[in-house]
Amino acid sequence: MPEIERVLFTEEEIHRRIRQVAAEISADYRDRELKLVGVLKGSVFFLTALARELTGRVTVDFLGISSFSPSKAPGMVRISKDLDESIEGEDVLLVEDIIDTGFTTRYLLQHLSGRAPKSLAVCTLLDRTPRRIVQIPLDYRCFEIPDRFVVGFGLDYQQLYRNLKYVAVLNPD
Ligand code: IMP
Ligand code: MG
Repeated sequence: MPEIERVLFTEEEIHRRIRQVAAEISADYRDRELKLVGVLKGSVFFLTALARELTGRVTVDFLGISSFSPSKAPGMVRISKDLDESIEGEDVLLVEDIIDTGFTTRYLLQHLSGRAPKSLAVCTLLDRTPRRIVQIPLDYRCFEIPDRFVVGFGLDYQQLYRNLKYVAVLNPD
């Protein structure tokens, strides 16, 4: 694809790393039921890949969010679709596609912790630490990435490229 500048992580690398992180999560939540909470739409691809590698009892639910224009209202997020079920008293893992400034994750953690889960942890496919503005607790991370815009494996540019099997840097033109 001419729009792709270079592949950062291949399909094989992504799945190998997801298996490692899933093994960690399975060990940490041994004998507990875990609810995976995904954020539409970006984290759906990662969440389903991760869920398939988990060995314990797992349930899944989704939140939808819409972000306001980053230039006008940085870090402003609104829930456009709430969870279908209660998370009260549950072990919850928030599954993210990418953590960039941290604003989205901080907002979601505040929203979810208000629902009185027994525990709340965060797992992300990609972590772009150079652009972090607010510190958030990150429990599981697959890859750290440089300060470049990326697409694939759920991540989009104007809703496109989510279906790519790999993660790639988009050509700036
Ligand atoms: P944050 O609130 O700045 O951490 O931004 C997180 C959200 O911004 C992610 O859930 C993505 O939807 C979007 N985002 C940030 N960086 C990228 C990128 O490189 N590619 C695609 N989407 C991105
Ligand atoms: Mg997006």
